[in-house]
Amino acid sequence: MTSIDTNVLFRPLTIKSLELKNRIVMAPMTRNFSPNGVPNEANAAYYQRRAAGQVGLILSEGTVVDRPASRNEPNVPMFHGEAALAGWKGVIDAVHGAGGRMGPQLWHTGAVRSGEWEPEAPVESPSGLNAPGAARGQAMGDSAIADTIAAFGKAAADAKRLGFDTVEIHGAHGYLIDQFFWAGTNLRDDRYGGATLKERSRFAREIVAEVRKAVGAEFPIIMRVSQWKQQDLTVRLAETPAAMSDWLLPLVEAGVDVLHCSQRRFWEPEFPEVDGENGLNAAGWAKKLTGATTISVGSVGLDGDVLNAFQGKGSGTMSLNRLVERMERDEFDLIAVGRALISDPAWTAKVQRGEHESLKGFDAAALAELI
Ligand SMILES: Cc1cc2nc3c(=O)[nH]c(=O)nc-3n(C[C@H](O)[C@H](O)[C@H](O)COP(=O)(O)O)c2cc1C
Repeated sequence: MTSIDTNVLFRPLTIKSLELKNRIVMAPMTRNFSPNGVPNEANAAYYQRRAAGQVGLILSEGTVVDRPASRNEPNVPMFHGEAALAGWKGVIDAVHGAGGRMGPQLWHTGAVRSGEWEPEAPVESPSGLNAPGAARGQAMGDSAIADTIAAFGKAAADAKRLGFDTVEIHGAHGYLIDQFFWAGTNLRDDRYGGATLKERSRFAREIVAEVRKAVGAEFPIIMRVSQWKQQDLTVRLAETPAAMSDWLLPLVEAGVDVLHCSQRRFWEPEFPEVDGENGLNAAGWAKKLTGATTISVGSVGLDGDVLNAFQGKGSGTMSLNRLVERMERDEFDLIAVGRALISDPAWTAKVQRGEHESLKGFDAAALAELI
């Protein structure tokens, strides 16, 4: 097989104070390996290996803000408290030591359950729902909302103080912020609810504005968004480009520099009825509509998407070809890689060296490598 020319993936990019050596981003991936929420040396070594493998930017696994019920698993790392923040300092120092750049993915799991574990405090969500018709937790009052917004701001300030290069706000996949976006889980009749995406994005906008206040003008803010929800993969928040603009443009105006548009397969067109089967993907449309820098993601280097994740086999060279094509059209700016980077910390370096035949797929055994 002939090797693929991937030079387009290895152009540098500067986003405000963040200088990236290439366009490959490690996607945020929850690991549940932080005992009692505190990252340790094994966590630092895990991220350091990916930095040493030449990935341009690392986004951490989701790490939760300081709210009593912000996580749904005991070993999800916290991004608050002295011990956890000291652990994160070890992580960013290790990543910088290997020449990497990194931001934490700031998270609140809202009403999403993961297994049987329950936080000590009541679960919180916009309207006491985890999905349309599925009651869980309690609807947030004004003070819970204000405290949550403040908690995101505090976490972002801590990220900057510890030396992280950026932060990503997790607004995707049906977790708290996305539960506000989603009409099916946001039935509020106050100013955080409403019939339009623009109205329902108010909570997210206020978080972004608070984070911007906390980090200053030059520190890049990323926000991850997704049409789909883990509760219902068929949901599309925005059915049209106009609705997408209504949703995302206010976020950019509030201070988001980079939109990270989560898709399961990056080559799938977002609005094929508008620009055809080879049309722009979610990140492509987000860039076109808002002018923001965008990150795409979904099955790079693999033959199976994330829901068939654990069977994604093969070197995925077909997806690499498609990626290069879209990058050459400047459809989006950065590409996140998830499972391929779990399987092989050196994935980026191997792609750059043209060792495409030696890239691994992903299989369940790779999960053992998470440590
Ligand atoms: C084990 C695992 C954990 C994940 N955890 C998160 C997470 O914490 N936050 C998030 O936004 N996405 C999470 N995702 C989704 C990934 O970031 C990514 O979007 C998805 O795996 C698709 O990319 P891939 O096909 O390259 O793996 C996770 C995915 C996997 C496989």
